[in-house]
Amino acid sequence: MDPRLADVINKIRDESLRRIVLEVVKEPSLNLGGTVYKGLRLEDSPASLSRHHSYPGGLLEHILSTVRIALTLCDCVEEVYHGRVNRDLVISGVILHDIFKTLTYVAKEGGGYEPSPVSERIDHLTLIASELVRRGLPLDIVHVVCAHHGDAGPMSPKTLEALICHVADVADSILNGKVLKAAKYLIREATGKSVEVMDSETAFKIVQLKAREGWNGVRRAVADSTMMDE
Ligand SMILES: [Fe+2]
Ligand SMILES: [Fe+2]
Repeated sequence: MDPRLADVINKIRDESLRRIVLEVVKEPSLNLGGTVYKGLRLEDSPASLSRHHSYPGGLLEHILSTVRIALTLCDCVEEVYHGRVNRDLVISGVILHDIFKTLTYVAKEGGGYEPSPVSERIDHLTLIASELVRRGLPLDIVHVVCAHHGDAGPMSPKTLEALICHVADVADSILNGKVLKAAKYLIREATGKSVEVMDSETAFKIVQLKAREGWNGVRRAVADSTMMDE
């Protein structure tokens, strides 16, 4: 397992919750009607087809970044607003909220991803919610997962922990998605060619170069890299 993810899981204080999170993360698979569905490895999975984190390893980065944002929001709630937060619920909820996206994508020949047959029938949120219910997890952790899409999902957040996970999820998705979109646009404008899959390090670098050095910075980065190689 990626050591950064192991560190985050180790922050969960409740031993039984930590064990279940570890089990699900290590083997995100499902048995549906006797058929076992295994998805992409977490380390290889994107977190979205095009909106955000749409590259190999994107889901892992989304989890790691969202946990950081969520823990900062926990500090705000406790230190500025004098509320109380159960951090175990927040950390576990963030780690699990999109974990079954691994089952909803398959790699396309020639790069990129497309929806898996499972995802044509069930969404990632229903998959993880039902898995947590099957495992007998407490109501409040299932709620964090059920409410992570906010008003766009099956139910809105009713607890501070669920609201924090939702806000952190949206913040990280926007941060990553906007930078990816901008970097792809800049490369298209600079070279006339489209890049379908771009990792976050490249995307952040392209956007920073445009801000610092203008179009020449973008063209130089493209010329120095292999991203346009066929
Ligand atoms: Fe989601
Ligand atoms: Fe997410």
